Amino acid sequence: MARPLISPSILSADFAKLGEEVRAIDEAGCDWVHVDVMDGHYVPNLTIGPDVVKALRPHSQKTFDVHLMVSPVDMWVEQFAAAGADIITVHPEAGAHVHRTAQMIRGLGKKAGISLNPATSANTLDYLLEGIDLVLIMSVNPGFGGQSFIYSQLRKIEAVRKMIDRQGLDVLIEVDGGVNPDTARQCVDAGADVLVAGSATFKGGPSQYAANIAALRGEGT
Ligand code: DX5
Ligand code: ZN
Repeated sequence: MARPLISPSILSADFAKLGEEVRAIDEAGCDWVHVDVMDGHYVPNLTIGPDVVKALRPHSQKTFDVHLMVSPVDMWVEQFAAAGADIITVHPEAGAHVHRTAQMIRGLGKKAGISLNPATSANTLDYLLEGIDLVLIMSVNPGFGGQSFIYSQLRKIEAVRKMIDRQGLDVLIEVDGGVNPDTARQCVDAGADVLVAGSATFKGGPSQYAANIAALRGEGT
């Protein structure tokens, strides 16, 4: 399969030593660092704020891939940009004017992502795609790590791949939720460029991270 980029979700890291964990996945060869921001309102969980992103920033030079599951979202964009996010991804349901939110993210010099929940249609992207850098396809309902992959999302990956290629756009497809070496391969075959993996990266502790990441890329160990 094509070689995907791997973006470990630090939601599955040891929160008591997040800096060390970010360094460990960096050294283990991850491509990006995925930060899941949840507000207890848009999703039923509370996680990481901009101060934590700022504190983690010196621990890795890799792309900080910040996934905002917060509503309303616009008020947080600037703070996460200032904290060191490189990519900021938002959900269309989390704000009244998602096109404007994407413009705001790009206006801050960051890459803009739009995330589609499992029940959200690929058509939501119709008037957004040319103004963004990334589509994050959720293969679980957002809120928690460790859930099972929802297979119907493979069709959505294929549909979004076609939309992007037809328009000749430079937009990456990232898949988030329930990604393991088996589902990773199916996502890449369907057209994914970037895979988020929490449980599958962090299982077994730091000595396993490099092998876990390699397995997600489809490389033997
Ligand atoms: C879910 C988050 C995911 C999640 C992935 O709302 O967006 O990034 O942490 O975790 P795993 O890989 O364990 O499904
Ligand atoms: Zn995520």
